[in-house]
Amino acid sequence: MCGIVGAVAQRNITPILLEGLKRLEYRGYDSCGIAVHAGGELRRARSTERVAELQQQVDQTGIEGFTGIAHTRWATHGAPATHNAHPHFSGHGKSQARIALVHNGIIENHDDLRAELQAAGYVFESQTDTEVIAHLVDHLYAGDLLDAVQQATKRLLGAYAVAVFCRDEPHRVVGARQGSPLVVGVGENENFLASDALALAGTTDQIIYLEDGDVVDLQLARVWIIDAQGREVSREVHTVQAYTGAAELGPYRHYMQKEIFEQPRAVSDTLQNIESISPELFGDKAYKVFQDIDNVLILACGTSYYAGLTARYWIESLAKIPVNVEIASEYRYRDSVPNPRTLVVTISQSGETADTLSALKHARSLGMEHTLTICNVATSAMVRECKLHYITRAGIEIGVASTKAFTTQLTALYLLAMALAQTNGRLDEQREAEMLKALRHLPVAISAVLALEPQIMAWADRFASKENALFLGRGMHFPIALEGALKLKEISYIHAEAYPAGELKHGPLALVTEAMPVVTIAPRDELLEKLKSNMQEVHARGGELYVFADADTKINSSDGVHVIRMPENYGKLSPILHTIPLQLLAYHTACARGTDVDKPRNLAKSVTVE
Ligand code: M6R
Repeated sequence: MCGIVGAVAQRNITPILLEGLKRLEYRGYDSCGIAVHAGGELRRARSTERVAELQQQVDQTGIEGFTGIAHTRWATHGAPATHNAHPHFSGHGKSQARIALVHNGIIENHDDLRAELQAAGYVFESQTDTEVIAHLVDHLYAGDLLDAVQQATKRLLGAYAVAVFCRDEPHRVVGARQGSPLVVGVGENENFLASDALALAGTTDQIIYLEDGDVVDLQLARVWIIDAQGREVSREVHTVQAYTGAAELGPYRHYMQKEIFEQPRAVSDTLQNIESISPELFGDKAYKVFQDIDNVLILACGTSYYAGLTARYWIESLAKIPVNVEIASEYRYRDSVPNPRTLVVTISQSGETADTLSALKHARSLGMEHTLTICNVATSAMVRECKLHYITRAGIEIGVASTKAFTTQLTALYLLAMALAQTNGRLDEQREAEMLKALRHLPVAISAVLALEPQIMAWADRFASKENALFLGRGMHFPIALEGALKLKEISYIHAEAYPAGELKHGPLALVTEAMPVVTIAPRDELLEKLKSNMQEVHARGGELYVFADADTKINSSDGVHVIRMPENYGKLSPILHTIPLQLLAYHTACARGTDVDKPRNLAKSVTVE
């Protein structure tokens, strides 16, 4: 999703801005741009290609300056085209542009503002909602950029993070945030803005996380923050750890492959050598909160939502607490029945997903104050907004398709199920010890599944020519089938759907022909015999079955049935292990089809707009 970098310094800041954009590339974008204050005028370069192409333009045209902003755009209003790429300029009635602005988010009242500004004589060059803000700031500008931005933001409805500078104030960048992330990087006689601290790695590790409603005035030796009430505020400066190594591909072809293979380490780090289960793993107040709840509401999107669906099986089975799992983008738009004795759990890799943050705020507005997040970014808005948290230690995930974030979320959710069970008196010491032992063995078990890669690559060659696929699972493996289908469609662009296998005969069976591969998750569990019947229904209609089976399931390869044996049955933790081959299948199918695996079309890593 859109990425912002801004800088005010006493050195040429174009390398810092471009490096920042490169670090934000993983979020997904379809155009990019940069603008600097250069010798009394605003200079700009924009591209609908990669940041590397933008860099070539900057080098060729010699764009340099001490103050500037840069942006990666993920199109919402207006096609991915150069004229829609940020920064946008404004300067009504002047011979030269005066205001340069970049924006992340969506301005809901852009139509009304556009009409008003057009009536005032502003001519629009783009279809974006962002250009409206640039013209509005220019319209309100009377010699003080901070004042103009403060006035402008009062007129905006929606979500935004903006960075602005002005031709007439060469050593100043003003930023503002409402609903979209924005951080300040503090330097020595230089200061920076970015939508993610990662963008500033190598430039500064001193980071201030702005809050909703903040407007920040960056000058060479001053960072001045004004909150939503118009008061000057000081916000804590955090020293963030350097993200060394995260961007190195090492021996891998893609970040997604690297991240799949990092899962033993990621799960192990997420378990943090835990010796015993206690609610305090989730925060000091967790015991009191867990005692005060009688149900759980999980809110999340995409892959994180599937982690929530899996957790429902674990929490209900282990802790006997009823669980609802809701797609975050839907939850706030329906009349639900709030219960103050609810533990509201958000799950998010980024911790900045706008839909999930809004759903969380909505739940709180309904009086549900017991909030917990499972999140991969300790400094994210989600962690700051929730009373309790558990930080997954996946490390930065660059591939747009979530892999290690998912398996570490599942690991953390299993710990949550155990902690809730313990609070409810349903986890005795012996059971706790057995379950912890199984968790500690997970990294080794995952490594054994990763060794199946060559067999899965052979399947991927067959999948590469398909345009549709079905994924089947039952019970707690149904969400894993959903995740497998999502992975395949996200990166290989093959249309894939997942069903609980028993549902096939209620409709989707009509889709099954010899052209339809049907991936089936078939662990040895209490549903296996029923699943085998469902597989027969597919086989009888000529469908081609690709089955992940345990060693002793008596499912054998035959005509139209392909079997890969999982190294071991992993009981309740089996969904985590069955995720791995589905990730590898999607990855190698995408490679065989030649898609842009790490940056699939139309998608963004961190979805910071609703
Ligand atoms: O950062 P989050 O976990 O909140 O993101 C939620 C989804 O956008 C994300 O899981 C998305 O579905 C992934 N691209 C899936 O691979």
